[in-house]
Amino acid sequence: MADPLLPGPLWLAGCGNMAGAMLARWIEQGVDPSHVSVIRPSGRPAGEGVRVTTDYPEDEVPAIVLLGMKPYQLDEVAPLLAPILDEETILVSILAGVELASLRARFARPRTIIRAMPNLPVRVGKGVVCLTSDSEDLAAKALLTGLMATLGHAEWFEEELGFQLAGHLTGAGPAFLFRFIDALAAAAERLGLPFDQAQRLALCMVEGSAALAAASDDDPERLARRVASPGGTTEAGLKILDADRALFALVERTLAASRTRGLEMAAEARSKRD
Ligand SMILES: NC(=O)c1ccc[n+]([C@@H]2O[C@H](COP(=O)([O-])OP(=O)(O)OC[C@H]3O[C@@H](n4cnc5c(N)ncnc54)[C@H](OP(=O)(O)O)[C@@H]3O)[C@@H](O)[C@H]2O)c1
Repeated sequence: MADPLLPGPLWLAGCGNMAGAMLARWIEQGVDPSHVSVIRPSGRPAGEGVRVTTDYPEDEVPAIVLLGMKPYQLDEVAPLLAPILDEETILVSILAGVELASLRARFARPRTIIRAMPNLPVRVGKGVVCLTSDSEDLAAKALLTGLMATLGHAEWFEEELGFQLAGHLTGAGPAFLFRFIDALAAAAERLGLPFDQAQRLALCMVEGSAALAAASDDDPERLARRVASPGGTTEAGLKILDADRALFALVERTLAASRTRGLEMAAEARSKRD
């Protein structure tokens, strides 16, 4: 097979919100769907030309397997999948909270196991994919970097701890930002604007502001000051957000709650293995 992004067959164990978004983007970016197999209990289609099965195929050994089901489903999947893989298979897990050691304990054969934490904007090629691995196989890691870079920004972490923290910021972050957009729209509605219009405007505003911040040499704190004239309307609003650093404290508690849950999930995956 000659696929510029894949060295051989790609299998996806589970293809819901996240793995489905990754697959749709990969296909748009030139992955040949006939090189992809999705294994999912429902057998639901996963895109034109993609093979979907409910059992693990027996006619090939995958070059790359992406674990895309929920973390608690690991012990349903691993006993069926592990015996099929060989040393060359690159195992990629997007399971939140499941550590490399917990994966290694269940998948002995693959030389390279990689944890990836993508986020939903991968669907439009604007995602962030955090990556970490204890593998020394530079070629396998370069291959994965190429594949993940088609989804947006791919960044490697030497340490799993840093990977996990970054994963809470970027993996869960879109939900936090969507909530903020919702809060802006709801507030504008309460003050008199129709909700649909407020939501549309809030979305356009966030898109433009993010693009400006990404293109600018100024950091967000400085950009905020550039919007706020002394004594003006923006400054009046910022005074509310900044009072007692209320927003910063709320966001810190939010990320800390994600981290705590991640640690609990890691402990669950560890204890089941032992
Ligand atoms: N959603 C996000 O933004 C996000 C971000 C970063 C990481 N993640 C990670 O991505 C993973 C999936 O999350 P999601 O939001 O995409 O969940 P989801 O939409 O519920 O998808 C779960 C998928 O797992 C499949 N599945 C269930 N049991 C299975 C089994 N025994 N073998 C193989 N596949 C099985 C389901 O199959 P059917 O479709 O046939 O029911 C479904 O396709 C999680 O581990 C999560 O930590 C998600």
